[in-house]
Amino acid sequence: MKALVLAGGSGIRLRPFTHSMPKQLFPIANRPVLFYGLEAIGAAGVHDVGVVVGDHAEAIRQAVGDGASFGLKITYIRQDLPLGLAHCVAIARDFLADEDFVMYLGDNVIGDGVEPIVSAFGRTRPAARVMLGKVGDPRRFGVAEVGPDGRVLRLAEKPAVPRSDLAMIGAYVFSPAVHEAIAAIEPSERGEREITDALSWLVAHDHVVEAHVSSGYWQDTGTFAGVLDCNRAMLDAITPAVLGSVDDASELIGPVVVEENATVSRSRVIGPAVIGSGATVSESRIGPYTSIGAKCTVDRSVVENSIILGGSSLHGIPGMRDSLIGRDADVRRAETPGSCSLILGDHSSVAPAV
Ligand code: TTP
Repeated sequence: MKALVLAGGSGIRLRPFTHSMPKQLFPIANRPVLFYGLEAIGAAGVHDVGVVVGDHAEAIRQAVGDGASFGLKITYIRQDLPLGLAHCVAIARDFLADEDFVMYLGDNVIGDGVEPIVSAFGRTRPAARVMLGKVGDPRRFGVAEVGPDGRVLRLAEKPAVPRSDLAMIGAYVFSPAVHEAIAAIEPSERGEREITDALSWLVAHDHVVEAHVSSGYWQDTGTFAGVLDCNRAMLDAITPAVLGSVDDASELIGPVVVEENATVSRSRVIGPAVIGSGATVSESRIGPYTSIGAKCTVDRSVVENSIILGGSSLHGIPGMRDSLIGRDADVRRAETPGSCSLILGDHSSVAPAV
């Protein structure tokens, strides 16, 4: 068994961040979201991993390297244009050879990991096994109709009238039969080669496509709401630790991680929260559900349910919540009460993230 991790794509919904970084490196509880997926693959006993990369290939290579720190052997596969999930499989054909493989969307976090779907696939070895989860609004997803025997009967991409509430979520396991399906399908109306179409082709040609219904936590961090939700879920699972320094005038409440060389003074940190390495927090209230990145400075501020990326500073911000602040940003309280002065990059948004 091999793995194929998709870490290219456009990331339009996460602009402006994706102008300068791949969305798969967006920090969730101060760790790139992609790392959760790579760990899940290693934990399933799969070590030979192809990573599909696009425009931000170099940043991903720098963060992940040869995969040794995850116990993986990584092969990078360059996708020149984001032409769809099935296109990723097509360009990985040489890497995948004629082996079974687990495909993982690099911006997804699956709480139960992929061991259960990989093991279940191994027991029956169908053409494909797709991970499904119940969702509130299936119209935004690829939706599967499943028979009483657990076989997928029909699939539809973002249907106006969904036939079930089971959406395809970030992982699939395929036998090499998928390559014939991908060779047979045409690009969709949006110009992408859709994995849903390849699966539909398999079903239509009497191949077995099994449903793997997961009731565990799952999140697609392709949207700001998804990023904040995932940050909350991963922070809920942190093990408290103080590796930096916290002065006597500060209070840590609930699960808090203070990473090495971080300093917290005259502040209150309400967990779950993480203060990144080398960050300085003074006279502030942080949390709950907040990740402060490495080397940030937070001074006389209140921050809740937010992610502040590395190297940024907040000064005198009285109530920041539900916010995402990029790298090396500087946010200060306006001199004149009631006014604000903004310097924002392309595609920025000063509006609620959720
Ligand atoms: P999506 O989030 O569906 O696609 P996207 O990155 O184009 O997002 P947006 O709509 O915001 O522009 O992709 C799911 C995962 O697959 C994600 O990790 C990106 C990756 N991907 C590729 O590697 N190549 C592709 O051609 C596509 C479409 C996605």
